[in-house]
Amino acid sequence: MEAQAKNPDRQRRTPRSPASQTVVLVGLMGAGKSTVGRRLAARLGLPFADADAEIETASGLAVAEIFERYGEAHFRDGERRVIARLIQGPAKVIATGGGAFINNDTRALILRQAVAVWLDADLPTLVERVARRETRPLLKGRDPAAVLAELAAKRNPIYAEAPIHISSKSSPHDVTVTAIIAALDAHRGPR
Ligand code: S3P
Repeated sequence: MEAQAKNPDRQRRTPRSPASQTVVLVGLMGAGKSTVGRRLAARLGLPFADADAEIETASGLAVAEIFERYGEAHFRDGERRVIARLIQGPAKVIATGGGAFINNDTRALILRQAVAVWLDADLPTLVERVARRETRPLLKGRDPAAVLAELAAKRNPIYAEAPIHISSKSSPHDVTVTAIIAALDAHRGPR
């Protein structure tokens, strides 16, 4: 009480319960956004949505097929619309595809209406994780380590606009989830 009276700014930064605002996970392919997102949602008692899976359901096509048939720009447009729809609904945890936050409109929307968390991992961890799935169009027929290094150089300064940055390295996913919850609490201020 006394601390609040002494610091009105702090009082105005409305304390929220950890479950009241949508959390959007951003970061490179292989960072673990979907797996960590699902577990984070369970721990926060929120629904979980995977933006790529929602795009696939909405279009009836796999992400790779959308890229192949209509090109990346078309995919980015659908991605922005799907994320806008997901963000509008009740609070949830959303895992985005690696390029979503790089699109200016999608990023502005996320920064305005949710808490963005940049989930980061070192290159060897990303390379090891992307090897588990062969459907990513940006990696097709290319050296994943080279593509990921190139994307990291281009995209990391943009992911850094997220107010929370969590480095997952090769830590177990539950350790990463605990770190995100602590960071969300700190970001939202004292309750
Ligand atoms: C992409 C990442 C993919 C998917 C699409 C494009 C990217 O999602 O959205 O292949 O531009 O980095 P994941 O990050 O879940 O692999």
